[in-house]
Amino acid sequence: MNHPIIDSAEFRRVLSHLPTGVVVVTSVVDGAPVGMACNSFTSISLDPALVGFSVAHTSSTWPPIRSAGRFCINVLAEDHAELTRNFSRKGIDRFSGVDWTERAGGPGLDGAVAWIDCTLWREYEAGDHMIVLGSVHGIESAPDVPPLVFCKGAYGAFATALD
Ligand SMILES: Cc1cc2nc3c(=O)[nH]c(=O)nc-3n(C[C@H](O)[C@H](O)[C@H](O)COP(=O)(O)O)c2cc1C
Repeated sequence: MNHPIIDSAEFRRVLSHLPTGVVVVTSVVDGAPVGMACNSFTSISLDPALVGFSVAHTSSTWPPIRSAGRFCINVLAEDHAELTRNFSRKGIDRFSGVDWTERAGGPGLDGAVAWIDCTLWREYEAGDHMIVLGSVHGIESAPDVPPLVFCKGAYGAFATALD
């Protein structure tokens, strides 16, 4: 199939108008915690319980997580903007100063809104990304922790539009 040519920068700019949450996908690889920020995360299926996200072919963090075969989705909180930036930086210890506890899927970050423990179920090629589907094994949410919102390249907070 021939796809129309869409300018990548313009595609990114226009699609950034869709507000999303932000997650950090974590795992333990060779005894060490690993993780990467993702805003492509979404729920996929109720029965069976499946979640998904897309990951760039250029990611160096995803292949080790794939090998581990399990991961924890950490839904980030309003005060996690700086943490999000760190989990997308290269050449740093992303877990430096981050408190976490071991969960079934991987490190559960303290102060997150929710944690979703998964095993890797399927992966599909999709252009310059892989679509990753996880089978959900455990779920937990924190009471009354406001989520982080990402829109037009900026971090913000959620506010209800109507009472
Ligand atoms: C808010 C935010 C959302 C991101 N969402 C994704 C995503 O959905 N998929 C992806 O592959 N990378 C995403 N990234 C980029 C990765 O976090 C980052 O490029 C990656 O961790 C680079 O390092 P790596 O080579 O260790 O994977 C996002 C970054 C930020 C700051």
